[in-house]
Amino acid sequence: MSACPTLETENLILRPFKDEDVDDYFGVLDSPEVRRWLHLRESLDRSDAWQQMAGFLGQWELRGTGNWALEEKKSGQFVGRAGLHRPERHDWPGVEVGWTLHPDYWGRGYATEAGAAAVRYGFDELEVDKLFSCILPENYKSQTVAKRLGFEFLEERVLAFFPKLPHGIWVLNRN
Ligand SMILES: CC(C)(COP(=O)(O)OP(=O)(O)OC[C@H]1O[C@@H](n2cnc3c(N)ncnc32)[C@H](O)[C@@H]1OP(=O)(O)O)[C@@H](O)C(=O)NCCC(=O)NCCS
Repeated sequence: MSACPTLETENLILRPFKDEDVDDYFGVLDSPEVRRWLHLRESLDRSDAWQQMAGFLGQWELRGTGNWALEEKKSGQFVGRAGLHRPERHDWPGVEVGWTLHPDYWGRGYATEAGAAAVRYGFDELEVDKLFSCILPENYKSQTVAKRLGFEFLEERVLAFFPKLPHGIWVLNRN
């Protein structure tokens, strides 16, 4: 059994990634909009998508954090990923909440819905005092999700994994 729990929200199932998700997940990453906003390298391919999925599952096992695969309840369709990210990076601010959806599913509130579930999980199950979100300054759609969840802008800083541009670091304190 995976260390990644399965959660349910109004419209979504948040579940562990499965091997069969690879084409759907690559479909998300390979959409021009997601490639653009995440600044994905041109060579990123299906096998990188699989590596990311395996990395999320592994992170759940090793650290109790990771991203969930998001399934739309009414259609059973894979729509993207969201969750809690704490990679082994010296300058990472802490447990990060993140979200990425296939563009066909933007505009429905799903990132906010999944993000809220991740925030609840972070505070209630991981019992952290603060959650973070690392968002490029130009990524207003992602900033809007963070603001809707109550995150506040903390600072802008260059993170080692992405030296090209500074990231905005957003923070949410436990009540
Ligand atoms: C960031 C990202 C997940 C945001 O997606 P999104 O659909 O805009 O965000 P939400 O799911 O919260 O939906 C909000 C939109 O749904 C609408 N909406 C509809 N029903 C809603 C509901 N019940 N609750 C909230 N919003 C709702 C809102 O009005 C808003 O619409 P708008 O964009 O026209 O203003 C998406 O743009 C994405 O995947 N981007 C590429 C990857 C990325 O940048 N990831 C983040 C890296 S930091």
